[in-house]
Amino acid sequence: MGNKIVIAVGSPRKRGNSSTLAAQVAAGAKAGGAQVETFYLHGMNIKPCTACGGCRKKTHVDCVLKDDMQLLYPKLRSAEAIVIASPIYWFTFSAQTKVFIDRWYGLGSDEGYALAGKKFALLLSYADADPFLSGAVNAIRSFQDALQFIEAELVGMVYGSASEAGEIKKNKALMKDAYDLGRKLSGK
Ligand SMILES: Cc1cc2nc3c(=O)[nH]c(=O)nc-3n(C[C@H](O)[C@H](O)[C@H](O)COP(=O)(O)O)c2cc1C
Repeated sequence: MGNKIVIAVGSPRKRGNSSTLAAQVAAGAKAGGAQVETFYLHGMNIKPCTACGGCRKKTHVDCVLKDDMQLLYPKLRSAEAIVIASPIYWFTFSAQTKVFIDRWYGLGSDEGYALAGKKFALLLSYADADPFLSGAVNAIRSFQDALQFIEAELVGMVYGSASEAGEIKKNKALMKDAYDLGRKLSGK
């Protein structure tokens, strides 16, 4: 049985650049025998963390909020690899992506985070030609810090400039990078 891979897409555009990169990663991963599930966060009911502390009480596993994260928590727990695909909005992750990442808090306990040891990959697209001016670097840096905090591994990143939905397809080198990253995540 191949690696289980969860891909979370944080763009409202289902045929946008983030989902194009995500599809390439999924294709590479499937070619390597992985089982891939892709979730579009925008259409899901994912509430912001309320900092209630319920997840830290011994009586609770995961988060007390009853929304679509209850579907995602077991998927995240059982995945070998997790991929985040986000557009850059206002110089960092989209709000959809950030709310999802905040809710990982529900996977923490005195023993650490349930995502510890998992493989992660990051896919970003942005309009500015420069990853610093676009704000992509801010998302990359905060993601690196988050993964260090939860003791997970950043296996690879694919990021590039595109503006119109799907425009990123024209960047053949980037498409290949995304496919190869998927293959790498599959373990093959
Ligand atoms: C609300 C909003 C904010 C944006 N902010 C930025 C930004 O700060 N830097 C940037 O380079 N592009 C910015 N963009 C452009 C998108 O990042 C770019 O079009 C990206 O390729 C969209 O990805 P998608 O097709 O997956 O939605 C913004 C777009 C929107 C709609």
